[in-house]
Amino acid sequence: MMELREQIRHHDYLYYVESRPEVSDAEYDALMRELRNLEAQFPDLVTEDSPTQRIAGTPTDLFKPVEHNVAMLSLDNATTPDDLREFETRLGRAVPGATFQYVGEPKIDGLGVALVYERGRFVRGATRGDGRIGEDITANLRTIRSIPTVLKPGPLASAELLEVRGEVFMPREEFAKLNRTLEEAGTPTFANPRNAAAGAVRQKDPAVTARRPLDMFLYHVSRADALGFASHWDTLEALRAAGFKTNPRAERCANLDAVLAACERLERDRDSLGYDADGVVVKVDSLEQQRRLGSTTHHPRWAIAFKFAARQATTMIEAIEVNVGKTGALTPTAKLTPVELAGVTIRNVSLHNEDEIRRKDIRVGDTVLVERAGDVIPYVVQVVLAKRPAESQAFRFPSTCPACGGRAERPEGEAYWRCTNSACPAQFKERLNHFGSRRAMDIEHLGDSTIEQLVDSGEVKDFADLYHLAVEKVSELDRFADKSAENLIRAIAGSRDRGLARLLNALGIRLVGERVAQLLATRFGSLDVIAGKSEAELAEVHGIGDEIARAIVAFFQDPANTELMKKLKAAGVVTTAPTAPVGPTPLAGKTIVVTGVLPTLSREAARELIERYGGRVATSVSKKTDYVVVGDAPGGKADDARRLGVTMLDEAGLLALVRS
Ligand code: IVH
Repeated sequence: MMELREQIRHHDYLYYVESRPEVSDAEYDALMRELRNLEAQFPDLVTEDSPTQRIAGTPTDLFKPVEHNVAMLSLDNATTPDDLREFETRLGRAVPGATFQYVGEPKIDGLGVALVYERGRFVRGATRGDGRIGEDITANLRTIRSIPTVLKPGPLASAELLEVRGEVFMPREEFAKLNRTLEEAGTPTFANPRNAAAGAVRQKDPAVTARRPLDMFLYHVSRADALGFASHWDTLEALRAAGFKTNPRAERCANLDAVLAACERLERDRDSLGYDADGVVVKVDSLEQQRRLGSTTHHPRWAIAFKFAARQATTMIEAIEVNVGKTGALTPTAKLTPVELAGVTIRNVSLHNEDEIRRKDIRVGDTVLVERAGDVIPYVVQVVLAKRPAESQAFRFPSTCPACGGRAERPEGEAYWRCTNSACPAQFKERLNHFGSRRAMDIEHLGDSTIEQLVDSGEVKDFADLYHLAVEKVSELDRFADKSAENLIRAIAGSRDRGLARLLNALGIRLVGERVAQLLATRFGSLDVIAGKSEAELAEVHGIGDEIARAIVAFFQDPANTELMKKLKAAGVVTTAPTAPVGPTPLAGKTIVVTGVLPTLSREAARELIERYGGRVATSVSKKTDYVVVGDAPGGKADDARRLGVTMLDEAGLLALVRS
């Protein structure tokens, strides 16, 4: 049994501390099984430090208080290089004439924990508590596999009583995994790895802690000088040799400049460390110097925490503003009491949509935790409920558009409220942008800032107003001179005869894009004819479904749109399709199905080609189909064609047909 325990400990060490396992999971499991069987046969021989006993504690309601042999102090903070230089000045004053070497190591954002070993055996672990008295969490700590229950031979293992300290944390990747699992189970998630680690360590049932992927870096040996060590660096090496996990990014620094460089490197790398670190702990290396420097009641004088620029901050939500986005979607933004976050002042943060506000129950007046990780846009992590004002009320999402006062609605199954007013100025700018875009009316020089000014000045209230703009008016706009104004007016004038298909696309009718616009134009030939069609008549057109038909009818039923059509016509905008299709129409009257992957034409390009030359594209093969164009991996449609005796072509055949 002793031999098995020894082997298992060795493999635990290789796996959890060194991350270089030497046996497969199956081999490891076999060793564990053998040990369990033996322990079941000889229960009197089970020891507390047996690998089988990591998850053996019984659930407790209360953690026993433990008094720390040496108080667990906190650290003084530095935020700038100058703060670090002052730190060194203070050191020099306390130990005159000395030069200082340092160790810089990541300040892990986890939980400070003290571990006690008696003659190399783990006997107790405790939280920091108030620094003097912590809580006994031995059973929970025993479940952390990188914490050795038996130390490897050496000065630490021989100590009658050893107290070591370090930080328990949850690796970022494991944290993300845990939150995903919790979310799937419908249980609340943790805001950050630190909270997750704290929750795990204080679990009532060690079996639950065991399922939480915790890890621990050791960084301190209490009374190390009494054990014969001369420097902090040496104690880190002794910790490593005893089987503890120490931080590989700890650096020994010959002077303060080296410390500053180490801080810079670590801050630069903070996102790739795999765990949250919020700074660098800078420690005087010599234990003799540490002893002479001593501590205040608060913190050791020989160490300081250089803090990275904060990425989380708490601030207050002063207001929640709702703006109209591109498509009429109403998007809420929180106006914050300005706060510094990783070197940037944050004033606004998007709250995305109504559901997000509800889920986090974000209210005006709330104190919130905001975060900016890496380059990511800041967001609200959570509300600090303890600071919520008594009179606070849940945020009510507006049911009217904040830009125009029009009615807003939230369609079933959608996340966004939308303004329903087609004349809404904020939406109108976006629609004007689309109107002038390349594939619509193709108006050069009609850019964002021009649109902004034209709409805000009241010069353009609908599409038709564009065609009445005068050069003098435009040249008054920002960044316009006579010449550029003339260019814009000419471009607008030139868009009058783009034809019905482009106009239909430009109008921004719901569900009517380029393709449907083309179908409508080809089939009906004029805007007036389309405006007079019923849903049923529109839906008869191949490629136009009921929903599109409904949207078209709704558009033309709106009196504002009827008015707009009149104005466009009066402004000389062509609202008809050219009567005779331009060019030859070798495919006129032919119904063609395309199936499989063609060698050069995409599906869309094939469709365009067929339609341009007068053909109609169908999606299923029937007796009325004239041709089936077959590419690679064609599927059932080729079989249908064969069965029905429809002529089959390859891409080259189609092109030949077009050329004919
Ligand atoms: S040394 C006497 N080293 O930061 C030794 N602390 O704000 C003092 N911490 O309570 C601690 N990483 O929980 C030290 N590499 C590190 C650390 C570290 C994180 C925590 C520790 C301490 C807190 C002080």
